[in-house]
Amino acid sequence: MGWNSWNMFGWNIHEDSIRETAKAIASSGLKECGYQYIVIDDCWSRKSGRDGNGDLVPDPEKFPNGMKALVDSIHDLGFKVGIYSDAAELTCGGHPGSYGFEEQDAHLWASWGFDFLKYDYCSAPADQETAIQRYTAMGTALRKTGREFLFSLCEWGGRSPHLWGRQAGGQMWRVSGDVFDSWINIWVAAWNTYGFGIDVSIDIAADLAEYGGPGGWNDLDMLVVGLKGRGQVHGGGMSFIEYRTHMSMWCMACSPLMIGCDVRNMEKDTVALLTNREVLAINQDTLGIPARPVRRFGACEVWKKPLADGSLAVALINRGASGSDITLKAGDVGLLDGPKLARDLWAQQDIADFKTDLTRRVEPHETLLLKITSG
Ligand code: GLA
Repeated sequence: MGWNSWNMFGWNIHEDSIRETAKAIASSGLKECGYQYIVIDDCWSRKSGRDGNGDLVPDPEKFPNGMKALVDSIHDLGFKVGIYSDAAELTCGGHPGSYGFEEQDAHLWASWGFDFLKYDYCSAPADQETAIQRYTAMGTALRKTGREFLFSLCEWGGRSPHLWGRQAGGQMWRVSGDVFDSWINIWVAAWNTYGFGIDVSIDIAADLAEYGGPGGWNDLDMLVVGLKGRGQVHGGGMSFIEYRTHMSMWCMACSPLMIGCDVRNMEKDTVALLTNREVLAINQDTLGIPARPVRRFGACEVWKKPLADGSLAVALINRGASGSDITLKAGDVGLLDGPKLARDLWAQQDIADFKTDLTRRVEPHETLLLKITSG
């Protein structure tokens, strides 16, 4: 759990806004909820290239005091800090990448005190074998520094990182291209690319559920909650109900939760979506089993996620355009007949006792997130 600079700031990052963000996460209650990584994404380094020693150089206009001072000040607030690079000559934003400099760069980041690396794949060869080699080279380089890094793989899922990400040293791997601030996929002509919407991300989470677990997570991409069309990421924003479905399903899927909005200026509804402890507990549950769909009918789905305390998290999702009744049948989620209690996690309220089934009205694009306790 943490925050990443990309969705809100893009290339327009600065040490002041990063530090202000860390302070806002500390003072807004987000930190106590578990958001602990502050990650600086692309475009932090000098675009003109490395210095005479071959070292990456922080852009002096964006980071006038250098990285060490910034990392130290964020550590002092009780956070871990992340940096970004790419497994080729250039990053997606056209800054120097780390291919061929893996050990040198890992050593530099370790000397600045970083704890996390997001490693992108722009400008790199498309085949899987090369991707495995390049990610393994960086995973090995990070390990050699002797400093603990969380290694976040970002090749967008095309080379099945869920099959080799762990061996390459990764703890999380992106499963899609960039998720936009949108329910549906959108084409961005200027970038010559599709942005993924929340709706299709839910299908990807279903397909890959079996590959995520403790030590290696399917990363559904950074959160767009709270952007409301204001970030540099495209999409234009979603309704509150859609943002809540987004958050619900990222939690059900055990995806890393990296906030993308401007936490210095959050509305109340955004704070509510990011800080509901009962919902976050589903994401952080120690069993770490990503949810799977157990029943689909029309545009509606029932998903199940076993929890460490023996209860179940259940999502009732309506992905269609009109409201619908969704029935949770005990048998669908592997529960025997007998008394059960359903708790609405967003409302933090017990809503029903039932034995065999429970029916609820679910609005278009809405998700009802329930915790079901038997006995
Ligand atoms: C890629 C990644 C994004 C972001 C940008 C930065 O598109 O998928 O998450 O890091 O690069 O340029």
